[in-house]
Amino acid sequence: MSENTAQRAQIIDGIVARLSGTPGPLLPILHAVQDALGYIPADAVARIAQGLNLSRAEVHGVVSFYHHFRHHAPGRHVVQVCRAEACQAVQCTKTEAHAKQCLGIDYGGTSADGRFTLEAAYCLGNCAAGPSVMVGEKLYGRVTPERLDQVLADWSQR
Ligand code: FES
Repeated sequence: MSENTAQRAQIIDGIVARLSGTPGPLLPILHAVQDALGYIPADAVARIAQGLNLSRAEVHGVVSFYHHFRHHAPGRHVVQVCRAEACQAVQCTKTEAHAKQCLGIDYGGTSADGRFTLEAAYCLGNCAAGPSVMVGEKLYGRVTPERLDQVLADWSQR
């Protein structure tokens, strides 16, 4: 077991130990693992299943069901483009197409330089000021393609 794998296992096991006694612990555990590691690694599924006395298939099924959970480590910054109704009404599809073109990736992909992962979101709680985009924890409103260029240029420096 490499050091990174060992550290990761320790983190996962710690989360399982901390949350396994709570009601309906699977989703809180998965959220905590993704918050800690950025994604749900394959070995986490086995460790969580063992910790909760579930089958791997049950845990894997939940991970696969929710778009929110990533199967691979994300790039340095996660860019979420809102595709929900209010943003669609103000042409978020143009922002979305521009994001895909600029980064050279589709949703779920990571740019070749490893800097950005692009994800779809379904309401970022900023409906009055769409199209909405979130990078990391920072929310942007009225993100036209031109504004997106500025946002990505700013995050490219980080
Ligand atoms: S619909 Fe896009 S932020 Fe709510």
